[in-house]
Amino acid sequence: MAATPDLMSTIVSLCKRRGFIFQSSEIYGGLNSCWDYGPLGVELKRNVKEAWWRSMITNRRDIVGIDASILMHPKVWESSGHLAGFTDPLVDCKKCKSRFRADHLENTDKCPKCGGEFTEVRKFNLMFKTFMGPVEDQSATVFMRPETAQGIFVNFLNVQQSARLKPPFGIGQIGKSFRNEITPGNFTYRTREFEQMEMEFFVPPSEDMQWYEYWKNFRLNWYVNYGIKPDKLRLREHAKDELAHYAKGCADVEYEFPFGWSELEGIANRTDFDLKAHSEGSGKSLAYFDEETKQHYFPYVIEPAAGADRATLAFLVDSYDVEGEGKDARTVLRFHPSLAPIKAAVLPLVKRDGMPEKAEKIYNDLLDNSIKSFYDLNSAIGRRYARQDEAGTPFCITVDSQSLEDDTVTLRERDSREQIRVASSQIVDVISKKLKDSRK
Ligand code: GAP
Repeated sequence: MAATPDLMSTIVSLCKRRGFIFQSSEIYGGLNSCWDYGPLGVELKRNVKEAWWRSMITNRRDIVGIDASILMHPKVWESSGHLAGFTDPLVDCKKCKSRFRADHLENTDKCPKCGGEFTEVRKFNLMFKTFMGPVEDQSATVFMRPETAQGIFVNFLNVQQSARLKPPFGIGQIGKSFRNEITPGNFTYRTREFEQMEMEFFVPPSEDMQWYEYWKNFRLNWYVNYGIKPDKLRLREHAKDELAHYAKGCADVEYEFPFGWSELEGIANRTDFDLKAHSEGSGKSLAYFDEETKQHYFPYVIEPAAGADRATLAFLVDSYDVEGEGKDARTVLRFHPSLAPIKAAVLPLVKRDGMPEKAEKIYNDLLDNSIKSFYDLNSAIGRRYARQDEAGTPFCITVDSQSLEDDTVTLRERDSREQIRVASSQIVDVISKKLKDSRK
């Protein structure tokens, strides 16, 4: 499908209509850049995070997970460099008071909205501040974390020693981060509250570049394995002048959204910067002790840092398809079965002859097997299929008159619309197997 600006508004309205994503505090006029995930959206995003966790932690012997707190000691942000350097260049229009990121303005010194003059460029720190405890003064200031990574670095030795790990090994976590972005936008793409899926991989310094290459490929393939079209994905290596001062290399996994190629995830070689910075800042060495050489050293860090909301948005956009035209048009979200919010819909053809009772039993069996399913008894069967296609449900199970004769049901597959007959007693096993086989 061609990437048109209209596609984004179609997706935003589909998300609201079908209960994927709503604007936060909508009845009060909404809160800029904050979004709420509805019943379908929360399942989709949970499945995205689960797919990440499975591939990065559950299925690996060399990576463990943690769940660190959002509020951390203020000195963490001093040592990490965020207090001094986590800033964006900001300009205000003197006339209409609009605010812009200076680095996002293309060759213009006039306000794109009203043509007014800009103020001087100021550095704007992106961290949200709050106070801990009842006294609201400087000493009580704490920050909402702008990345989950620092919770991993400060716990490096706790995790390494308690889990008895030896480099190369990784620590991953999924959690909320907050950034007071100057120009949030493009739906859930850039928001002020978002969820990250980050993993810090600690390696002997001499192995850094081989692991950097490994993680770039591994992460790019993850998106492909979960259904993103390969021609919509690319790896973009940062130029030297784009690199953070501590990074030896960085590449972005980019997706071609309707608003252009944009970052989904960054993979960085952070060297030994973070462990050294926190050792200096805290006065407690985070050096690793190598039992074999009897030497201490600071491992290098390769960091694949992804956004759960951005990945979810990419899966939504990429799965969107319209087949046919006019009144025959069918909207389908072609989600990978592992990501689909609802795995199976159970549909009795009519509301009589014992069909609802038979369908209810199948529905209960699916739920008892932890297969998120949906029961729909209302309207013509074609309309019910269409509703499920638009929600991205990979399988529909229909109980019809033949079911009453031979105890089989129709299993319809979303993408091909192919229908086969399966014994009722086998249907849960058949769906479980299809879901399992689709997982990478
Ligand atoms: N620890 C490294 C780090 O945080 P980053 O590139 O700033 O690197 C990693 O963030 C990922 O987090 C991004 O690739 C993106 O997917 C997500 N992310 C960052 N800022 C975001 C925002 N304002 N809204 C939504 N997602 C964001």
